[in-house]
Amino acid sequence: MKVLVLGSGAREHAMCWSLANSPLITKLICAPGNPGIKEEAECIDLNINNNEDIISLALKEEIDLVIPGPEIPLVNGIINDLNKVNIKAFGPSKEASKLEGSKKFTKEICKAANIPTANYESFTNQDHAINYIKNINTPIVIKADGLAAGKGVIIAKNKDEAILAIENLFKGIFGEAGKTVLIEEYLEGIEASYFALCDGKNAIPLTNAQDHKRVGDGDTGPNTGGMGAFSPTPNLSEKDNEHILNNIIKPTLAVMHERGTPFQGILYAGLMLTNEGPKLIEYNVRFGDPECQVILSRIKSNLFEAILAAVDHTLNNFHIRFYDEVSLTVVMATEGYPGKYKNGSIIKGISEANNIKGIKVFHAGTKIDSDQNLVSNGGRVLSVTANAESMNKARILAYSAIKNIKWDEGFYRKDIGEN
Ligand code: AMP
Ligand code: GLY
Repeated sequence: MKVLVLGSGAREHAMCWSLANSPLITKLICAPGNPGIKEEAECIDLNINNNEDIISLALKEEIDLVIPGPEIPLVNGIINDLNKVNIKAFGPSKEASKLEGSKKFTKEICKAANIPTANYESFTNQDHAINYIKNINTPIVIKADGLAAGKGVIIAKNKDEAILAIENLFKGIFGEAGKTVLIEEYLEGIEASYFALCDGKNAIPLTNAQDHKRVGDGDTGPNTGGMGAFSPTPNLSEKDNEHILNNIIKPTLAVMHERGTPFQGILYAGLMLTNEGPKLIEYNVRFGDPECQVILSRIKSNLFEAILAAVDHTLNNFHIRFYDEVSLTVVMATEGYPGKYKNGSIIKGISEANNIKGIKVFHAGTKIDSDQNLVSNGGRVLSVTANAESMNKARILAYSAIKNIKWDEGFYRKDIGEN
């Protein structure tokens, strides 16, 4: 089969690396891809936020299956559009992608499916929102309803901060995404992510992970896309995993099916492990980045066969297996990230790191410059991933591999995997 993966991050590198060993794939294309992905797949430049461009490429290359990495094409309805021209695609429809695209929609599903989550109210009027917070305790969580590139959540420590956040959202700092505002109860606990592969009716576990969202050591500084991750998390027992699958994922799938918007693809539950048990913070409708790198480093089954079973609605007969090993990834980013940064600094030593047993370096923002040097080309640039028999060993391995990478403008957190 001819397969097209959409995206250019370390997540898509891990996906292509994992897919490349499937004997069922005769040609693997990634658009736009990156220099790391090029070792696994043919890379073709493409604007993946334009459905027409994606469809033209898929038709031209006679693609049998399209696998989007990030959420934007999914929320833009690429699955619906590909299906209209009879191209198979892995991922949720536009309607089902609302589980990521609208926080209010997710709250409605939680209510219908009786899923534990933070109490909330939603507002489309600034005065009503400000009035509401007068009588509730702080901290308060203020959220833009729609996609806001991971920046639409404000944890307000006091009412002044909450009012400012509400005013900013209604002023339109996130455009349409902030026209509806959710005000949510603050949940205390440890965060964890749980992943399930879904075929519309059935869900099978894709194991769990934990990421480090803040830019600085000790969870300090602004939020990022993720500075590192590990899988599995010691904070979820086998019993917890079953509880999440049966009480959060499966009821969600059942309600989505009942509503005529079945969910096919990867359902990623962001959870808070509270004293009252796991509660859903948010859903994403795709793999996490960097969580994907650690999950796919542990997968024993063939990823492509699992994806085909999801697309063909036969997951009830599919048994997915994972290695017991721990996988841990450390993200290397460009100085300045998540704020302003410069592209174009030279990176060396990746093959030396890759030569170490148990290490795989996934590329994100990299490119080859006109002098044939590998240079930085984004905020998050590399994801150095180690597999070992324990968390401690995986952490030591990842950090010793990083020492091989010579990149003056790069930085990374020194405490990934230290809870
Ligand atoms: P989200 O984009 O919904 O995942 O939110 C981003 C981050 O904000 C989460 O990973 C949590 O750290 C935090 N957060 C979101 N909602 C809550 C909540 N109700 N209580 C505490 N923290 C939250
Ligand atoms: N690492 C968080 C995300 O992919 O949304």
